[in-house]
Amino acid sequence: MNTEIFIECEKLSKSYQKGRNTITPLESLDLEVSKGEFMALMGPSGSGKTTLLNLIAGIDRPTSGTLAVGGEDLTSYSRSELTEWRSRNCGYIFQLYHLVPILTAYENVELPLLLDKSLSRKQRNERVESALDLVGLADRAGHRPSELSGGQEQRVAIARAIVADPGLLVADEPTGDLDRESGAQILELLKALAGDYGKTIVMVTHDVLAAEAAARTLRLDKGRLSESGAQLKGELV
Ligand SMILES: Nc1ncnc2c1ncn2[C@@H]1O[C@H](COP(=O)(O)OP(=O)(O)OP(=O)(O)O)[C@@H](O)[C@H]1O
Ligand SMILES: [Mg+2]
Repeated sequence: MNTEIFIECEKLSKSYQKGRNTITPLESLDLEVSKGEFMALMGPSGSGKTTLLNLIAGIDRPTSGTLAVGGEDLTSYSRSELTEWRSRNCGYIFQLYHLVPILTAYENVELPLLLDKSLSRKQRNERVESALDLVGLADRAGHRPSELSGGQEQRVAIARAIVADPGLLVADEPTGDLDRESGAQILELLKALAGDYGKTIVMVTHDVLAAEAAARTLRLDKGRLSESGAQLKGELV
């Protein structure tokens, strides 16, 4: 078996300076995530889950240690290089969707593509339609977020996250604001994106059911990462 490592962190640390105090949510973390793996990240509030997600997504930079995603050493990139890398390689899914309220579902999904001047209008159109189709919302393209249910809004947000065809998806409590059934649909979609489309997914969650949908669960606590028992359950199902 030859599993390709997609995310690789070594001795990864992140500290914040708050006045005279230094907070170190992440301390010397080692982590490997395979290509196409759907990983859940759990842990108490304030343990650094979002901090880790933001490092992996190239939104923030580590204080020390190494971090490579898809074979690219993110620690060697400047902030603007990271932004450029992120627009091609990483989709971010938020708990509260973060759709633009005055834009339709179609226009929200199209947004990330407007940055890519090499795409023609026709190419953009095809990509947006296929992303909306993949999340099962082709028939809602003309609706604004206020005309959609929470589950549908999150599916539009997933379409936006995948429209530029990134290899990596990060999700910060993507089911945290949804009822159980809508949440289950989102988890099925994420599973399919990993299983059928080879996306590598890191999902922060407080929900054990959500973690069970993932192939592997890690726990972050007091700056340290450990494999969680939920992984065993996931493997048995
Ligand atoms: N930009 C920042 N500046 C200073 N401190 C920060 C910053 N971002 C996060 N922190 C601190 O780092 C620690 C970890 O925060 P983080 O948001 O990663 O936690 P979390 O595990 O995602 O929590 P939650 O489950 O509540 O979302 C907290 O103590 C937080 O106050
Ligand atoms: Mg958080």
